[in-house]
Amino acid sequence: MHTASIQLSQTFNDADEDREKLLAIDVEEPVETKFRVRNLTKFSEGEMAILKGIDMDVPRGMIVGIIGPSGSGKSTLLRAFNRLWEPPAGTVFMDGKDVCELDVISLRRKVGMLFQLPVLFEGTVADNVRYGPQLMGRKLSDGEVYKLLTLANLDSSFYNKIGSELSVGQAQRVALARTLANDPEVLLLDEPTSALDPISTQNIEDVILKSKQQSMTTIIVSHSIKQIQRVADVVCLLVDGEIVEVLKPNNLAQAKHPMALRFLELSS
Ligand SMILES: Nc1ncnc2c1ncn2[C@@H]1O[C@H](COP(=O)(O)OP(=O)(O)O)[C@@H](O)[C@H]1O
Ligand SMILES: [Mg+2]
Repeated sequence: MHTASIQLSQTFNDADEDREKLLAIDVEEPVETKFRVRNLTKFSEGEMAILKGIDMDVPRGMIVGIIGPSGSGKSTLLRAFNRLWEPPAGTVFMDGKDVCELDVISLRRKVGMLFQLPVLFEGTVADNVRYGPQLMGRKLSDGEVYKLLTLANLDSSFYNKIGSELSVGQAQRVALARTLANDPEVLLLDEPTSALDPISTQNIEDVILKSKQQSMTTIIVSHSIKQIQRVADVVCLLVDGEIVEVLKPNNLAQAKHPMALRFLELSS
């Protein structure tokens, strides 16, 4: 049995011996680190700390959930992984390489992202799904488009639809198919279902779980503790720019940090 770990930020009171610094997850295969984050810090223009020295290792092929109060820095942290927010050099590493030194376009192809509200481009669903490969000079065949639609839990009738014919939930699934068309290694999901109905939510969660079987690494920010418990392998609680707890989804009740406890109480 091998273990993978996610490291907590270092700002804990070290005297508190009850509090483990590392969470070990039992896995059958040795797990590589997909992302390493070290001392990731961000200040606002008013010199307010938004991220306070985040340390974390994201194991390859796992689903890492991030929860926390709004304004705690979840979106900022997520955006550092594909440089939608440019992190300081030497803080975020993918497969051991500083993301700041990678070509940003190819980084974003490998690290796909979905937001709370989908924005579709003009044209049909099929045009949207073809968009990413087209930029690389490759036209997806009809069969490939249908396969991606199926992967995103959309039937073939969606192929020729346009954005205005879709519900938000359907559009989000199209956005997911469009992201998957780039054959990403990582999915960043920023509250991907908070605007969706329960059926679409379930569809998206299905896709997240299916993608894990294709060894996708996923980092999902969610305000829904139940959702995190359904999909994530490990949960980071982000409070006020710090990861204050790392727990297994079923052990959230064991959180000890006062702010984390309060957040969990209020959201359950
Ligand atoms: N570009 C920015 N400039 C200044 N402050 C920002 C910027 N982006 C986010 N913030 C602030 O950083 C904090 C964290 O924001 P965010 O990452 O969006 O939190 P969350 O996603 O957890 O709600 C908030 O207080 C927000 O107002
Ligand atoms: Mg956010």
